[in-house]
Amino acid sequence: MSNRMWGGRFASGPAEIMEEINASIGFDKRLAPQDIRGSLAHVAMLGAAGILPAEDVAAIEVGLKSVRDEIEAGTFVFKRELEDIHMSVESRLTEIVGPAAGRLHTARSRNDQVATDMKLWVRDTLDSLDQQAADLQRALSQAALKHAGTVMPGFTHLQSAQPVTFGHHCLAYVEMLARDRGRFRDARARLNECPLGAAALAGTSFPIDRHATAAALGFDRPTANSLDSVADRDFALESLAAASICAVHLSRFAEELVVWTSAQFNFVRLSDGYTTGSSIMPQKRNPDAAELVRAKSGRIIGALTGLLIVMKGLPLAYSKDMQEDKEGTFDALQALSLCLAALTGMVRDLEPNAEVLARAAGSGYATATDLADWLVRELGLPFRQAHHVTGRLVGVAAAKGVGLEELLLLEMQEAEPRITDAVYAVLGVTNSVASRTSYGGTAPDNVRKQAQAWIARLA
Ligand code: ARG
Repeated sequence: MSNRMWGGRFASGPAEIMEEINASIGFDKRLAPQDIRGSLAHVAMLGAAGILPAEDVAAIEVGLKSVRDEIEAGTFVFKRELEDIHMSVESRLTEIVGPAAGRLHTARSRNDQVATDMKLWVRDTLDSLDQQAADLQRALSQAALKHAGTVMPGFTHLQSAQPVTFGHHCLAYVEMLARDRGRFRDARARLNECPLGAAALAGTSFPIDRHATAAALGFDRPTANSLDSVADRDFALESLAAASICAVHLSRFAEELVVWTSAQFNFVRLSDGYTTGSSIMPQKRNPDAAELVRAKSGRIIGALTGLLIVMKGLPLAYSKDMQEDKEGTFDALQALSLCLAALTGMVRDLEPNAEVLARAAGSGYATATDLADWLVRELGLPFRQAHHVTGRLVGVAAAKGVGLEELLLLEMQEAEPRITDAVYAVLGVTNSVASRTSYGGTAPDNVRKQAQAWIARLA
């Protein structure tokens, strides 16, 4: 049998393999709610513009709603020979309302229809990702407030650099997520133009009202160029790019959790709810959820790369290649949603081991910069010279196997005679972090204020 939607000039149906490669119903059935919403807006406009008689509009509307009910109830039968969601809905509509259904496709094409459906889906998804990212920000801000004064080592090159606070570390991710959310919102604002009514590629000779359908579907305006309308997948690319950057942020945090929960670091404890055991080694608590958040960034970035490659050689306007936008986009944005939820759960339950963190914060001569700064501030040494003196003292302490604060005053004075015992006040980690009061610095007072400001902003 030839296809009854487009088979007028075909004597026979597609080859089995043709049908398999061509069909998108297996994955685009998820666009059913968007497809029906779009059709309801389109048919209402056709009626208002006098293109369809009111009784056909009414019949089609009733029919579309019962198709929607069947899909929601799970009784709708999806058939591969109907190719995609657009033809599946129309075919069932025809069964329900008869020949009037055939008028729904007046002044539109699957090309503008699928672009509209995808935009609606991506738009909803961006909105919910934004909310989920806000949830994670909330959890991190609460942890930051609670641990504004919990000292831990700050790293560069994964070498202990200077002490920071655990809260400060949490707030770093709150800032990253704020930029991620900004990118989600930017992508949303740019995509919010309606392609419906661009028809196949050239527009239509029917007196349609594209402003009306755009408004009915919550778009800011119709797209301005019919070719661009059906050829554009920037909205998917941009959303995947924003998702990829966000996924990279989550992956970096997940990596830290994996390292921090190792027995060697023992910086934090994940709850039982977010760890798994080993089937053979009873002592193990594996951070599987964190590892999977780290790993899922791969498929998210992969979806972006994949779609960029699909799009890069396509002449205007629509090509069937563009059907390949769906699985990657659905999968990637869904994966990001899961990662955000899992990380939020982990952060809510996370317990830093304050004693281990404090000990680690003081090791590795992490307050050497404080000593150098003290020499500059109190003795007026140029920073380069202060750096040199401090370096010598670190060498002395390392040779003795002690911390800087355990050096005798006499030993310090051998390197710089003007040092007084006032220096000991800056050598502990608590003093060190408390002194970092510059804007954006790690001083507990700063961190507490920043955390409170975020909590208020996110309320
Ligand atoms: N299933 C198709 C897609 O996802 C719908 C558009 C088909 N358009 C066409 N001219 N064959 O892209």
